[in-house]
Amino acid sequence: MRGETRKGRPGVRRAAAGIGIAGAAALGYGLYEGSSYTLTKREVPVLAAGEPPLRILHLSDLHVLPREAGKLRFLGELARVVPDLVALTGDVLSHPDASEPLRRALAPLFGFPGVFIPGNNDYYVPTFHSPHRYLRRGAEAPPKGPAMDWAVFARDLAADSGWHEMTHIHEVLMIGGRRLDVRGVDDARLRRDQVSLVAGPPEPGVDLVLGLSHTPEPRVLDAFTADGVQLTLSGHTHGGQLRLPFVGALVTNCGLDTGRARGLSRWHFAPRTGTLRSSWLHVSAGLGTSPFAPVRLLCRPEATLLTLVPAR
Ligand SMILES: [Fe+2]
Repeated sequence: MRGETRKGRPGVRRAAAGIGIAGAAALGYGLYEGSSYTLTKREVPVLAAGEPPLRILHLSDLHVLPREAGKLRFLGELARVVPDLVALTGDVLSHPDASEPLRRALAPLFGFPGVFIPGNNDYYVPTFHSPHRYLRRGAEAPPKGPAMDWAVFARDLAADSGWHEMTHIHEVLMIGGRRLDVRGVDDARLRRDQVSLVAGPPEPGVDLVLGLSHTPEPRVLDAFTADGVQLTLSGHTHGGQLRLPFVGALVTNCGLDTGRARGLSRWHFAPRTGTLRSSWLHVSAGLGTSPFAPVRLLCRPEATLLTLVPAR
């Protein structure tokens, strides 16, 4: 027996070393991908026939820390795409001291109109929680850390940029010579959403009805679609953050199905009476991660340029 044990040990050691090397390589790649910021371009056939394109730069889940030079530089350089509108859909900061560096980095974009709403991580400093909790489909919201003052950040951002905070606001904005009916809700992950405050049919004659909700929670998407919202912009999912080949996202951390964890999809709402209604949903994979798990796999951090064109 003792001889077999001695023979077995080198094999066990080799296997353990192999697993360790593979794990370190995966972690190294995940860290690299987590900071490989990219601009994704998508076309949304949502406008009326004959309308010229409308370009929306969709930013989400920045999760900015004070010294993230690469991410801040990437954000500033996005002004080169010359959008008609910038839409920022929450989880902006991961540390209260990141507010000023972020606003400085975004300054080149302040020449364009913008709208923004908070995410669940804009109210509390992130705290560590177990990966097991993260991977549980639809798990409850993680424990809350010390409070962050979203109201102060929103006030400062609006003052610097002229952008509109749309938390429970429903109004018509003139964007690029067109009338946009825009409505936004507070975060649904924290159950702060009150869709009734922004509900109602679109203003007559608007060119687009746009909804903003950090968490793409089905109840919000149903309510928006029922009211005639044509395109909802969301984030929160990080595209799954860790995606597997041929499988995709494992979780969305909300009630949305994993097949819609990032990108464009159609959302259908069937009322008890009346006809089926449909809208577009765009879920950004976001630009950041939790500071405790700064890795991504097959899910690059993205800003998205959405070019809205006439429906086919
Ligand atoms: Fe996030």
